[in-house]
Amino acid sequence: MSRMLSYGMVGGGKGSLIGPAHRRAIAMDGKAALCAGCFSRKEETNRQTGEEWGLDADRIYKDYIEMAAAEKNRPDGIDFVVIVTPNVSHYIIARTFLEAGIAVVCDKPLAMSVEEARQLCALAEQKELLFMVTYVYSGYTAVKQIRSMVEQGTIGRIRTIVGEYPQGWLAKEDMTGNRQAAWRLDPEQAGRSNTLADIGTHIENTVHRMTGLSIRRLMARMECTVPGRKLDDNSAVWVEYENGASGAYWASQIAIGHDNGLRIRIYGEKGSLHWFQEEGEKLLYYMEDGSRMEIHRGDAVIDSRAAAYDRMPGGHSEGWFGALANHYCNYIDCLCAQKAGEPYREKMDFPDVNDGLSGMQFIEACVESQEKGNVWIVLEE
Ligand SMILES: NC(=O)c1ccc[n+]([C@@H]2O[C@H](COP(=O)([O-])OP(=O)(O)OC[C@H]3O[C@@H](n4cnc5c(N)ncnc54)[C@H](O)[C@@H]3O)[C@@H](O)[C@H]2O)c1
Repeated sequence: MSRMLSYGMVGGGKGSLIGPAHRRAIAMDGKAALCAGCFSRKEETNRQTGEEWGLDADRIYKDYIEMAAAEKNRPDGIDFVVIVTPNVSHYIIARTFLEAGIAVVCDKPLAMSVEEARQLCALAEQKELLFMVTYVYSGYTAVKQIRSMVEQGTIGRIRTIVGEYPQGWLAKEDMTGNRQAAWRLDPEQAGRSNTLADIGTHIENTVHRMTGLSIRRLMARMECTVPGRKLDDNSAVWVEYENGASGAYWASQIAIGHDNGLRIRIYGEKGSLHWFQEEGEKLLYYMEDGSRMEIHRGDAVIDSRAAAYDRMPGGHSEGWFGALANHYCNYIDCLCAQKAGEPYREKMDFPDVNDGLSGMQFIEACVESQEKGNVWIVLEE
């Protein structure tokens, strides 16, 4: 069964970064319409954003508490909520909607602590509500193709993985007036990490979804390179996976010259797979003899599970928006199936609340490693 769903949004007011991108990605496939929201704590911004997106005045709410209570009781209430506020409020907003029986999509990092993340996992399971955490990059067809090639044993047992995510936008000492920087560098609003929480978790999750591997232990060095900062802006992490393979991650926001340079290289005993987000529609496969194959979205060799997401023939870039839209497509299809009493678990192909928990375990272990003098920390099961 497939019908147009309705959704609401918390955060994502005019001038914010990621909320408007979510709205555009959802609109791409026309499977859900924005019907309710609390986009900002500022009354004027909230109202203007709701009006701009065509909402009825009575569904532009003053806060998320009022919104959850009202939507829960409407016969045409929202099917899911999208949470795109700064990190500090993810947990309480997600919990409020889950308790109201409304499915949740939340941006990363899921919460401020492992404990909060565990509570959300338990609540989502107890209420049987689908919960997506928008680690965008596993939505790329090329990333799904890497997952298939790893599963099929194309590169054999994985030996080592290198992941990096350099950005340069926080290199300036004075970031006055930049709203995204203001909360990301404030421990009260961002949590115990800036860079590792903001983009290091993208490395952790993309590697996990490409390979299925989870981290067994890690050692982190988190640096504040700009004087006066309370949270990391340049961090490196050594990791060891459950299969004994090693990994090295670097996440930086003071790397001048880089925009969103997420790059993952996976080295196995029979070959290697390389993916670079800024050219995200292709991947490189190196064979044992060093010869290489460049595989593009749209090529006939792309696995049918990955190719099923294509909207356009290869060569017409779908990019980051297409990747986020892919997650929403799958999430909404699963939600429709669940509502119709049809099987949906085997269709689920989006990062969920457990991915969010793993991200929090990664952040907390990195902080513990740093605080104890860059020692190895074993991650909790
Ligand atoms: N998945 C990704 O690739 C990605 C990329 C960027 C940001 N993010 C995540 O998205 C979240 C938002 O980041 P951003 O850069 O868009 O921040 P932002 O500061 O640009 O926007 C935050 C918005 O939330 C609103 N807001 C804050 N508290 C609110 C509340 N209690 N109720 C209603 N609205 C509220 C603000 O008014 C603002 O409109 C963060 O958790 C961030 O880590 C994820």
